[in-house]
Amino acid sequence: MSPDRFLTLGIETSCDETAVSILHRETELLASLVYSQAEIHAQYGGVVPEVASRNHVVKLPLLVDQALKKASIQVDDLSLIASTYGPGLVGPLLVGLSHGKGMAFGLGVPFIGVNHLEGHIFAHRLAEPDATPPFMALVVSGGHTSLIDVPQYGEYQLVGMTVDDAAGEALDKIGKMMGIGYPAGAEIDRLAMLGDPKIVRFPRPMIGSPGFDFSFSGLKTSVVYHLRKHPREKQEDIAASVLASVVEILTKKSINATRRFHRKRLVISGGVAANLHLREALAKAGGEHGISVHFPPRSLCTDNAAMIAAAGAFRHRILGEQHPLSLRPEPGMGLGLDGN
Ligand code: KG4
Ligand code: ZN
Repeated sequence: MSPDRFLTLGIETSCDETAVSILHRETELLASLVYSQAEIHAQYGGVVPEVASRNHVVKLPLLVDQALKKASIQVDDLSLIASTYGPGLVGPLLVGLSHGKGMAFGLGVPFIGVNHLEGHIFAHRLAEPDATPPFMALVVSGGHTSLIDVPQYGEYQLVGMTVDDAAGEALDKIGKMMGIGYPAGAEIDRLAMLGDPKIVRFPRPMIGSPGFDFSFSGLKTSVVYHLRKHPREKQEDIAASVLASVVEILTKKSINATRRFHRKRLVISGGVAANLHLREALAKAGGEHGISVHFPPRSLCTDNAAMIAAAGAFRHRILGEQHPLSLRPEPGMGLGLDGN
């Protein structure tokens, strides 16, 4: 094997996606497999942590084998194992973390735990390796709505976050009330294309508040009351009106934060970044303010292990880090200046 060959196995199990990837050096993706448990959890209307853990236990070893085959390598070719260790659901995190540590121990290679939020930011590095920081990042998914200033990879300042529900979580809960299956974001996106966003003026909580925090639970409550009063309103119009509120809040806060921190680039990641209305609104607002807006491809925006391997490989190879095998899951970890 050539001496500069460096292969990282990435493992992601923080919520309901079981994902495994193999990355060469820092940005060359050889395999990225994602098994979504969404259908299993749909019958409960949301993620059931214990059910997620059990499915990770079954799926993860199979995905590791498949990823090795896809990358045409042997398990002992691996140079580093990187698993997500937080934030997320403790049981699911424990499955991926234990599997990763076990493999590192067995193979005699270093192990590194990855912060899931830092992973989302590294989706951008995979998509555009040459578009280096500084930039402002918006991570917006079912679990997070966070604005993070990135002066350089490995250095983060949390600028704002949701004080209650994440944007995707609010869309999923609203979808449930509208009778849409779980997760609802993509279907709300589709319905909204056919609806009129001006039919209902839902609130835009905290849109004018100082700072860059978000709030989405008031929007959810207001949709409940509206649906009770107007049970026959067209689903398309409700979806369009709800998205108009979410998109306006996300766009305004992200553009304002990017300007306040004097950044010229805004990077969006997380499942909600797949939203076409959000993409359009942010690209337009960015154009008006001289900010270039970057969306990694959808497969890198939603939870995946490619971004975890990329963050792990960076931390190990560039920052010289690794973790002891005593590393424990950190379900509530944030992303601060020290990366923790
Ligand atoms: O990043 P992700 O796969 O997992 C989490 O870390 O949560 O994001 C899933 C979230 C769900 O809330 C889902 O409803 C939302 O992303 N989502 C969307 C779209 N596709 C997925 N929200 C709005 N528009 C979409 N097209
Ligand atoms: Zn995520």
